[in-house]
Parts: sequence; structure tokens; C-alpha cells
Amino acid sequence: MVKKQTQMYYGADYNPEQWSKEIILEDMALMKEVGVNYVSINIFGWVSIQPNETTFDFTFLDWLIDLLHENNIMIDLANGTASPPAWLVNKYPDMMPMTVHGNRLVHGSRQHYCPTSEIYRRYAATLSTAVAKRYHQHPAIVMWHINNEYTCHIHECYCDRCRSRFQQWLQDKYQTIDELNRAWSTTFWSQSYGDWHEIYLPEQMPTFKNPAQQLDYRRFISAMNLEIYQIEKEAIAAYSRDIPFMTNLMGLHKYVNGFQWAPEMDVVSWNSYPNPFSDMPYPQFLANDLTRSLKKKPFLIMEQAPSAVNWRAVNGAKKAGQMRLWSYEAIAHGADGIMFFQWRQSRGGAEKFHSAVVPHGQPSESRVFKESCQLGNELKELQAIVGTSFIADIAVVFDWENWWALELDAKPRTLKYIHQLSRLYEALRGLNLAVDFVHPDEDISAYPFVIAPNLYSTHASFGDKIKDYVAGGGIFLTNFFSGIVNENDQVYLGGYPGLFKDILGITVEEFYPLKDTMHGQMTFDQQTFTTHLWEEVIHLKQAKVLAQFNNDDLSNTPAITCNQYGEGFAYYIGTELAPADLTVVLSKIIQDNHLEKAAQQFIEAETPVSVSCRQGTGYTLLFLINHTDIDEHIVLKKKGYSLLDEKPLSEIDVLAKDLQIIKILDDQSDS
Ligand code: GLA
Ligand code: ZN
Repeated sequence: MVKKQTQMYYGADYNPEQWSKEIILEDMALMKEVGVNYVSINIFGWVSIQPNETTFDFTFLDWLIDLLHENNIMIDLANGTASPPAWLVNKYPDMMPMTVHGNRLVHGSRQHYCPTSEIYRRYAATLSTAVAKRYHQHPAIVMWHINNEYTCHIHECYCDRCRSRFQQWLQDKYQTIDELNRAWSTTFWSQSYGDWHEIYLPEQMPTFKNPAQQLDYRRFISAMNLEIYQIEKEAIAAYSRDIPFMTNLMGLHKYVNGFQWAPEMDVVSWNSYPNPFSDMPYPQFLANDLTRSLKKKPFLIMEQAPSAVNWRAVNGAKKAGQMRLWSYEAIAHGADGIMFFQWRQSRGGAEKFHSAVVPHGQPSESRVFKESCQLGNELKELQAIVGTSFIADIAVVFDWENWWALELDAKPRTLKYIHQLSRLYEALRGLNLAVDFVHPDEDISAYPFVIAPNLYSTHASFGDKIKDYVAGGGIFLTNFFSGIVNENDQVYLGGYPGLFKDILGITVEEFYPLKDTMHGQMTFDQQTFTTHLWEEVIHLKQAKVLAQFNNDDLSNTPAITCNQYGEGFAYYIGTELAPADLTVVLSKIIQDNHLEKAAQQFIEAETPVSVSCRQGTGYTLLFLINHTDIDEHIVLKKKGYSLLDEKPLSEIDVLAKDLQIIKILDDQSDS
């Protein structure tokens, strides 16, 4: 049995290799002041514990782990494989990744390993074994942190080894070369293969590359990195099976297929770096829901900046209160821990101007340090949150493979998946609709409303699933350039959107993409909305029109449609709308179908305050987060208690840029 988390985790990446023992001892006192109960260590520790091929030296790590334990700090112990040492690279330069231009990268940064290097895998496994063997029984260890941010920097390698491994991977996948030729549509441009060895990586080519080949390369890179994770994990699992395993994911990161990786982890976590210049960083808010959705369980913010990062063109500082509010935003959406990168700001190296809890200056004079203390000490009182499950109202389909396919070149229009998703997410947040993200293979039957935004590429089986879902009474919404191709980027014939046309009761004859400077108009419920990016020629089969385009060629033609299919309804939007306009459309769909939101049991959910619910045993936690600049007053439909002071409440003020957490008992029969 894997050990369960019992406290909210609060802490940081801790890199004490960079510091003297005196400073480390000072850190223990400061961690107490901040309320730290959890740190991630040894992420970049490889050369410290294995200074050369034949020596393992755990003196420092032994001391550090005991010291943290004596100070009641739980440890997320990394196996230390994120940055291979110089002695290894110099002995085996061939383990380094190769760029598309044929340059081999050299030592001096981090994550410098080719994803198929047997040498890297072997040495990483040896290091993992040594770490696990030494520490698996240490009572302070509560998590195994495998590697760090896989593919963050290296998401391509064009070495000969990767090429032959790719050929082998393709052979395992397709079995026969004819099957590969079919899947890759190689009759186009005389690309057919007679043998596996003829196949290249999608490297430098004269013009457009084979899209199916590029898609398989993305699958291959994600799979090769997952193999590394598994090798490292297995090395540790030989000694330790009761401590949870995880690696820190990156939310909306394109190159790791999160839904495929999550089953290999006990806990999912992500590193969250919203831009402080944005008041409402929807992509990161969305990524909280996405990360939780990978396992439909609480997740961890494994890293966030206390204030500025070092890697943007302009590294804005988080404003007073912003870090706290965004931390609670994550908690409201299922986080059971908030950790920073990093604990103490480095003196040298590339990240010395990245903020940290302990700054270069005096902690006592640091706003960031004081805000970290405030949050840490608040979280100590919020143990009722741990392990509670997020209550979702609806499902939004998310698929990494679609992301890859949608953004390949040679399309009618450049479409960015995350941009489209963020706009939808913003519109949903405007209605306080709580979102679970689902993979197309997942069971969707429990959700009353499923949205599949820009699902350009998907398996035929998803089309069948949606048919059953809507026929059985489900509400489905999709939009332009969805249901167009299969998993090999081959068009579903017979009229767009091939996979969904029956259920939507329409066909799309032709796409009318708009340039960035162009906008059109459409009419919906007597309101005029501006259209962006895309319009198209839609023909009705059985569907009804909900909105029409107003522009020259497309004047009075359908823009939004609704089709009854069996017991349910399928909606289609043939353009991009501003989030506020999309909110209006979504609101009508919600009303017409009498869809209820979880939050409505407790308050009138039509409020500018962000509302979300987490379910505990015998109680619900209602999170009211006010991201606006105006104080709000909320009247509760049921009696609650403020989680911080346990005072009974029936109404409450939620001040601007502040929040409230209300505990509402399920059984209120005698109250
Ligand atoms: C990533 C890495 C950290 C650090 C931070 C800086 O999340 O995992 O080691 O480099 O970025 O923002
Ligand atoms: Zn390689």
C-alpha cells in the first residue's frame, strides 16, 4: 500500500549543495518560520553523490536528510538524474542529444541526454538504485521524485541511435511495412517504403514533411522519455513500493502526453509559472484542472515562483497578494500542496535572479518572504482540504495527440490549441462551470455536458462514443475544424466534419479562414457578435440554426447549429468567438438543457467570484475566490463555517483579491 498524504504540503525545491552548513542550519530556522513541512531535494544532486564513476558519497545527503527529519520536514527525494555529470558525458559523448542540424550538444547546462541513450539509462538506473537502497526506509521520505521536467529542454534528438530506435518502434507499432505505408499515406509524393531501414526521423527536408511521420515522432519522443521514467522508477521500486512515485509535469507542455504518463505515477504534480503581468492567467488556471484530471485525484503544485522568474524577456514580479491568491486558486481546483522553486535564491548560476522564498537580501525585509510565511501559516489550519475531491459540472475533451496534429503545418489556418482552449475555459469560468478534462478514451457517461473544442484529429471510436452519449441524452458541443481526420491525419470522407456530421446534422462545404486583421459578424439571439479567425460554409441537414453569419459571401448562412439526436442535443459553433460572447452562447445551452451546477446547491452561482467545490467525507468545501477589484457579498443557501475560524455563517463578504473557504456539512437535518 502506498502511504497516504495526511497534511497539506508546503515547501520548496531545496538545493543545499549550493550552500555552507551554517546557511543550511539557518535555513532550518527559517523553514519553521515559513511553515515549511515538505522539501524536494537532490534534483540536481548527481555529481555531489557520485563524484566519479566508482565513488558514491552520501555523507552530505545522510546529514541533510536526518537534519530535515529532526526539523519535522517531510522529504520529496529525487533520484538525482536530471543533470548528468561531466565525467559521464566526457566518457560517453555519444549519450548527448543531437540537433536537427547535426550538432551534438555538450555539457554545461542540464537535461543533456539523448532520449534513447542506453548509457544514460544505465547510469540513471544505477544512481536510482543507490539512492533507493540507502534511503528507502528513512521515515522522512514521503515521495520519490523521478528526474525533473522530462522534455522541458530536449524534445527532439536526431542522432543515428534515435533513428534506428524510431524504425524499431514503428515496426513494433505497425508490424508490416505495408501497414505503415497505409497509415502514413505514402502514395502521396512517392514516399512509399520497402523496408524499415529506409525511414528517417522527420529531420531537415526540402519542404513539408509527412504529417503522419511527424505525429509518430511526437508519440515516439513521449514514449522514449516515459521508458526512461519507468527504468528509473523500477530501479527504485526494487527497494521501495510504499512511497508514492511522481515526476513533475509542466501542465500545458506539448511533448509529454500527460494522459499516457499519469497511470505510471501515484501522484501527479506540475510546475506552475503564470506570468505576473496577467491578472487572470487562464492557461495556468486551466492547467490546474487538466493536471487534476489526469488522475481525477488531488494534485500538487510542485513548483511555482514566489515572485519573478528569470527566463522571460521581462520577468515581472508577482504583485502583493498575487502569489497567495493564485495558490488558493490551485487548491480550490484540487491541489493538496504548494511548493516553490526555490527555497533560497542561488548566488551563482543561471537562476540567480529567479525569485526564491529566501532572497539575496534580508528575509525580514522581504515582502516575498513575509507572504510565504503568511500562506504557510494559513495552510497549517486547512487540513480538512487534504484528499477531498473536486466536483466537476462538465467535461472538456483534451488530447495531446490532437494538439500535435492540429498544429502541424499546411492547414487552412494557423490554429493554436491552447489559445482556443484558454478562450473556451475563460468563457466557462465566466459561468462558474467546474471543468474536468477527459481523454477521448475515457468514460464520459457521468457528465451531463461534454465539449470537444477543435478536436481536429481523433479516433473513429470517439465518434461512436459521442453518438451513444448524445443518443442517450447527453449534451455535446464541438466547434470548427473538429472531427476532420483520424489518428494518422487522414480525412474522414463524405463531407466535413466527417466524424461528427451525422450527430451534428450538418455538413461543412468549405472553410473561410480569416486573416488576423479580418473580423466578421454573426447574429445570435438578436445580438451581434464579432467572429475571429475562421468562418465556414455550413449546410443544414437535420440541425436547426441558432446563429447566422452576416458577412458578404456567408450572409444569412448558419454559424451556430443545434441538432436533436436521440434523447440528446449536439451543438456546433463554426467560428471563434470572444470569451464573453461564448459565455452568452454557453449560457443558453445550459439554460435550454436545465443543466445544474454543483455550486448552485450552496449559493447563487451567478457571481463574479470564482466558485468551486471539493467534497470531503460528510462535508463540502466551498471556495470563493475574488479575482476582481471589487468586494462581493455572498449569501449562502445552507449554513456553513469559515474553515479558518470555524464560525457559523449564512452570508459572507469576499473582499477584492481575497478568498473565503466555507465548510458545509452534508447533514443539516437538525440545524
Ligand atoms: C523549472 C525547473 C526548475 C527551475 C524552474 C525555474 O520548473 O524544474 O529546476 O529551473 O523551472 O522557473
Ligand atoms: Zn538521440
